[in-house]
Amino acid sequence: MAQNGLLQSDELYKYILETNVYPQEPEPLKEIRALTASHQLFFMGTSPDAGQMIEMLLKLTGAKKTLELGVYTGYSLLLTALTIPEDGKPENKGGFDYVYVDADKINYLNYHEKVVKLLKVNGIIVYDNTLWYGSVAKSEDLVPEVLKQGRTSVLQFNKALATDPRVKISMAPLGDGITICRRVY
Ligand SMILES: C[S@@+](CC[C@H](N)C(=O)[O-])C[C@H]1O[C@@H](n2cnc3c(N)ncnc32)[C@H](O)[C@@H]1O
Repeated sequence: MAQNGLLQSDELYKYILETNVYPQEPEPLKEIRALTASHQLFFMGTSPDAGQMIEMLLKLTGAKKTLELGVYTGYSLLLTALTIPEDGKPENKGGFDYVYVDADKINYLNYHEKVVKLLKVNGIIVYDNTLWYGSVAKSEDLVPEVLKQGRTSVLQFNKALATDPRVKISMAPLGDGITICRRVY
């Protein structure tokens, strides 16, 4: 599913990955991605094209204090650790510059309520899977059973986020869709 991203052409996604993403992907991330590929739930790993955008955001914002919710084989966590400065660190207290949320979709709104309060003003939250394998734009009867519950949660979440005055957002159709969220006050 997320293997091919959200683009309708596999060739186009392959082109993006091979031309733009893989040449700049750090070696330890290539290794994790290769190890994850043979796992039954390989599709849960953060997509490398989304990872490339996250790296860009971390560098541009100079993020140091970071938090991640939902760790699988650790692609996104390692990416963060490799990108933030030497004196930066993954944290579990408040005052975050950057939070990445990629856990159970049913709790995204609960996570948002907590995380937004722990984030510095102008801090960034990135939510993964906010296009939920493209199912958000399909009518429910065309959505495979296995995606339905997640789709309902993601639809509610996207709607709530778009009207939350505490944040400005940008939905980027990378990987399975990431919503980049900046706390404004
Ligand atoms: C999509 S994967 C995360 C992938 C990760 N970004 C990576 O690149 O490896 C979601 C992870 O969240 C974990 N998870 C699900 N519900 C959770 C919860 N309530 N609390 C903590 N982790 C949870 C799952 O076990 C899974 O490992």
